[in-house]
Amino acid sequence: MTAGLAHPAFRQDYFGDPAAWSALVALLQDTFDINVGIQHRFGGPDPTSMPFGNFDADGTCVANFSAFSMPVMIGGRSVKAAGFQSGAVRPQWRGRGLYRDLMKRAFAWSDAQGFELGLLLTDKPALYEPYGFRVLPQYRLVGSPPEAKPWTTARRLSLENDADIALLKKLLRNRTPVSERFAVLSQMEMFLLNSFFDGDVRLDHLEVFDAVAAWKEDGGTVKLLDIAGRTIPPLSDILAALNVTPDRIEVCFPPDRLDWQGTPEVYSSGTSLMIRGLPADAFNGPVMLSPMAEF
Ligand SMILES: CC(C)(COP(=O)(O)OP(=O)(O)OC[C@H]1O[C@@H](n2cnc3c(N)ncnc32)[C@H](O)[C@@H]1OP(=O)(O)O)[C@@H](O)C(=O)NCCC(=O)NCCS
Repeated sequence: MTAGLAHPAFRQDYFGDPAAWSALVALLQDTFDINVGIQHRFGGPDPTSMPFGNFDADGTCVANFSAFSMPVMIGGRSVKAAGFQSGAVRPQWRGRGLYRDLMKRAFAWSDAQGFELGLLLTDKPALYEPYGFRVLPQYRLVGSPPEAKPWTTARRLSLENDADIALLKKLLRNRTPVSERFAVLSQMEMFLLNSFFDGDVRLDHLEVFDAVAAWKEDGGTVKLLDIAGRTIPPLSDILAALNVTPDRIEVCFPPDRLDWQGTPEVYSSGTSLMIRGLPADAFNGPVMLSPMAEF
């Protein structure tokens, strides 16, 4: 217990208050060293966000946990899913049950809203197990590239360019899920934020297909992170447009729409994907959440 701290005020759905939003930006900056305030360059935070937070008498955000709507495609079916993110408590306020209270409120809210699936990414899975979350192992697909003869081109996009941001937003809004097995149906804010935070991500507009490829090159390996567009071209056409001839391909989402087979390899990162509400066998084969949709 921390003596001498008055119980902070609880607030829900507070993003309409610019001071409270800035206080959350500060909490996440201090906790995770990331500046989510940058989202204002791309149109602001996800409008579906439902933040649950505690604020002290000075307006400092001392604890937060947010839910947001993240519909996903699972096995060819559209599933109403909620993502949970931005979970943090300032050090002097920890161990007092603030986070337990916020988790309970957020999960009760998502149940009342009728979300069928809950999703979160965490380095502390034990924290969420009591609430019915369990780890869903993730697999990327690796293998040899298909033969790709150059016949079309791509244009590199820049997040410094307003017209390119507008194009990305249009493609993200109208995208076809990158996989029938497991993919986000629509989620714009995290794609843009993840592109911004990871300077190695290349965004190329495959003009013939009106789709954008998010990818990385690492030695002789091309890592395909996501495709956002009305159609998902086969991998051979994506590589042709990107004009790359890698030794090895890594696809970071189920490749069922790419006309290409790879070998599943466990994807290990510092965080685990956890789900609540659907059984693991709801997923027909290995899954991975595109790194562009990570939250
Ligand atoms: C993790 C964190 C949010 C916990 O906040 P808190 O207010 O101290 O948590 P609470 O006091 O409400 O504890 C809630 C429960 O979580 C448990 N818990 C706390 N920290 C935990 C941890 N690191 N791992 C597993 N369980 C943990 C507590 O034992 C408690 O369990 P109980 O309900 O069975 O008693 C806080 O330590 C923090 O901000 N850490 C840094 C950022 C972070 O890791 N955020 C989570 C990202 S997914």
